[in-house]
Amino acid sequence: MDITNFRKDYTKFGLTRKDLNSNPFEQFNQWFEQAQSAQVEEPNAMSIATVNKNREPSIRTVLLKIFDDKGFVFFTNYNSAKAQDIEQNNSVALLFPWLELERQVRISGKVEKISQAESFAYFTSRPKGSQLGAWISPQSKIIESRDFLKQKLAEMKSKFSSGKIPLPSAWGGYRVVPEKFEFWQGRSSRLHDRFVYQKEDGKWTIHRLAP
Ligand SMILES: Cc1cc2nc3c(=O)[nH]c(=O)nc-3n(C[C@H](O)[C@H](O)[C@H](O)COP(=O)(O)O)c2cc1C
Repeated sequence: MDITNFRKDYTKFGLTRKDLNSNPFEQFNQWFEQAQSAQVEEPNAMSIATVNKNREPSIRTVLLKIFDDKGFVFFTNYNSAKAQDIEQNNSVALLFPWLELERQVRISGKVEKISQAESFAYFTSRPKGSQLGAWISPQSKIIESRDFLKQKLAEMKSKFSSGKIPLPSAWGGYRVVPEKFEFWQGRSSRLHDRFVYQKEDGKWTIHRLAP
C-alpha cells in the first residue's frame, strides 16, 4: 500500500503565548478537559517510554489514573519489563496524542513509586475482575498458553472467595514527576505551535520552539 499521500493539514486551533497558563499542570488540566469534551478516545491513555541499563528504549501505553501538581500516576506490575527499566533508570517520557484536537502533550521527568496506602486506595476502587487480574498476571513474563491465565483465575477466585482482595505486593502506582512539558498544536503548512515549559531556579519558564 502506498501511504505517501496520506496527509492532513491541521487547521482546527492555534496556540499563542498568551493562551498559556503559567502553571503547566493547570495548562495540562485545561487541555485534558478539552480532550474529554471533544470525546477523544481514552484521553487518559498515554505512551510511556523507558530506557534500560543498556540504553535500549521501550514504549507502551498505560492509563493515567491520577494527576495533580505532584505528578502523573499510573498503575502497573512492579516486576514488569517497564518496572525493571525504571529500577535501573528512573528517567521517563510520556506522550498524550490527542489527534482529534490536532494536539500532543509531551512530558519528561523522573518516576517514583507511590506509597502502598495510595496504591491500595486505588486498587480497592477497581472492579473485582481487575483486582484478580493483578494477582494473576506475571506481567511481561513468557507463559505457555492462555490456559495458564484461566487456571490462575480459578485459583485466585477460590483463594479470595470471601472478604476483600488484598493488594498484591508486586502491583502499584508510579508517579512521574515532570521536569519538562511540551504542548503542541498542529497548524497549517506544518508551521505548528510548540511551547515548552522547563523548571529554572524553581520556576517554570516558557519558550516557543520551532516546529
Ligand atoms: C489502552 C491501553 C491501556 C493500558 N493500560 C495499562 C496500564 O494502565 N497499566 C499497565 O501495566 N499496562 C497497561 N497496558 C498494557 C501495556 O501497554 C503493556 O503491554 C504492559 O504494561 C506490559 O509492558 P512492559 O512489558 O513494557 O512492562 C495498556 C495497554 C493499552 C493498549
